[in-house]
Amino acid sequence: MTPIQDKTIIERLNWRYATKKFDSQKKISEAHWATLAESLRLAPSSYGLQPWQFLIVQSSDLRDQLTPFTWNQTQVKDCSHYVVLTYKKKMDETYIQNFIAKNAEVRDIPASNLDDYKKLMIDNLVKGPRSETINWWAQRQCYIAMGFLMETAALLEIDTCPIEGLDPAAYDKILKIEDSEYATVAAVACGYRHADDKYQFAKKVRFDSASVVKFV
Ligand SMILES: Cc1cc2nc3c(=O)[nH]c(=O)nc-3n(C[C@H](O)[C@H](O)[C@H](O)COP(=O)(O)O)c2cc1C
Repeated sequence: MTPIQDKTIIERLNWRYATKKFDSQKKISEAHWATLAESLRLAPSSYGLQPWQFLIVQSSDLRDQLTPFTWNQTQVKDCSHYVVLTYKKKMDETYIQNFIAKNAEVRDIPASNLDDYKKLMIDNLVKGPRSETINWWAQRQCYIAMGFLMETAALLEIDTCPIEGLDPAAYDKILKIEDSEYATVAAVACGYRHADDKYQFAKKVRFDSASVVKFV
């Protein structure tokens, strides 16, 4: 693999900012979008269980409906791709069994080899104490995917805005997932910054490295 230069990564991370105003005329190419979508799919998750679905809202009518439930933030309407991250509300044995079957198929091993792994997940997430806070667990996994998406976008010089300023229950209703196994946690607007967005010129506000990264 060709190494990416450290300098390039730091430059791109400084270049990225939470974009407040997107240029609605600029769209992400299919090739770049395919890479962004892969960054979501390849994100790691606890046990590898991927308790998520990513909804790409392309309909302008749906985006109009979502805007008032997103603190009227203009990114919803103006970005190229609007990604709503949804998490799996409950972890159940059927889902885990499907995941085990997928493992066995991909790695070409008997599913029975994974019995201990399966039991570990069921005892922890379905029957164990963690089942009581499974929503939080699943939401945390979604934030990892969010980070992967934003970092990948930055490396491609594509802008993003992470969005938690939304009403998840209203989103679920508008996106018609209320009765599904998934629920909204957050969103990421992806596209290209508008030349007028003054925030692109604002300096980054971060605590010094020494106060947040400690060698112990
Ligand atoms: C989980 C999360 C949710 C956020 N929600 C919003 C949001 O709803 N609207 C917005 O404009 N910015 C939102 N932000 C952007 C942050 O305010 C921004 O990342 C932070 O101030 C640091 O600035 P920078 O990303 O430009 O470096 C969110 C950021 C994160 C990580």
